[in-house]
Amino acid sequence: MLIDGHGRTVNYLRVSVTERCNFRCQYCMPEKPFSWVPKENLLSFEELFLFMKVAMDEGVNKIRITGGEPLLREDLDTFIKMIHDYKPDIDLALTTNAYLLPQTAQKLKDAGLKRLNISLDSLKPEVAHKIAQKDVLGQVLKGIDKALEVGLGVKINMVPLKGINDDEILDIMEYCMARNIKVRFIEYMENRHADQALKGMHGKEILSKVKEKYTIRALGREGASPSFNYKIEENGYEFGLIDPHKHDFCESCNRIRLTAEGFLIPCLYFDEALSIADSVKKGDIEAASQVLAKVLKDKPKENRWIEGELEEGQEVSSRAFYETGG
Ligand code: GTP
Ligand code: 5AD
Ligand code: SF4
Repeated sequence: MLIDGHGRTVNYLRVSVTERCNFRCQYCMPEKPFSWVPKENLLSFEELFLFMKVAMDEGVNKIRITGGEPLLREDLDTFIKMIHDYKPDIDLALTTNAYLLPQTAQKLKDAGLKRLNISLDSLKPEVAHKIAQKDVLGQVLKGIDKALEVGLGVKINMVPLKGINDDEILDIMEYCMARNIKVRFIEYMENRHADQALKGMHGKEILSKVKEKYTIRALGREGASPSFNYKIEENGYEFGLIDPHKHDFCESCNRIRLTAEGFLIPCLYFDEALSIADSVKKGDIEAASQVLAKVLKDKPKENRWIEGELEEGQEVSSRAFYETGG
């Protein structure tokens, strides 16, 4: 079992396979970064997997592949298969913008992927275009249909933004209701890479939009998930709210992150990270395990989030979400 310096059990590893993305979401990567990580700095699937085996052997039983957009990494299904073959009962998931799903969903399912979390911020083509800065909606909706058709589990993530898609909370929820899939509304997390003009909606504001039409009951947090769940009394539908401004989910935080370059990151809002790149390039399992132990020992107690707006000059973390994998 992996236990961190604050007594929390860590069983969840998020692995980013690329920081590149085919969207330019205003809240994440509004402009193409000055430079991408050079291809030669990316760890190969074999190198990533070597570390992942160490983590799985020591207690990780949930792995999520993230990015950037993970489906941009060539032959991702072979990587999924490596993980699945090593531990078939692992909770193996992927977070994606769905754009490439129509042509990849079946392969991912066949390789052993169990479920997908998909970003869907609008059902209006022009609004989806405005947020992702690309005409994406048709392809994303096709991707969601395809994922459901091949039998992958699906959850939807929506980030409500004031004056942009804040009128679509009920529409997106009802789209999900009709397909029997869960939606999680995510409070926009301010960060220096995002379009600085954006204003997110507070969790309470999101809930009040839902309450305009439905009666809701709080169910609570599902284990160590950042999502707080609610039930619609009228029809039993369950949805989630991810509200990082209230950092109570840090208490039960169960996750660490690995970037495509091999940095092991103890918290989304933490700049300091240790690299496992040298260890895995040498095939040194013992050294990789030691880096893991150190990162766990130093995992911060809670994120450095400040309730409400960040104060002048105050930084939560400078690392971009597209690099960390959200
Ligand atoms: P499940 O396994 O389905 O519960 O997925 P997940 O919620 O762990 O993964 P997903 O990639 O869908 O992340 C949803 C949102 O939660 C994203 O906006 C993440 O950035 C955010 N999130 C995930 N982990 C953390 C965390 O440790 N801290 C904070 N503040 N936000 C997080
Ligand atoms: N604030 C909130 N959510 C974000 N995501 C990416 N950037 C941000 C941000 N700044 C979400 C995406 C995706 C998930 C992994 O993270 O919508 O669904
Ligand atoms: Fe790409 Fe996801 Fe970031 Fe949008 S939120 S730019 S889809 S990594």
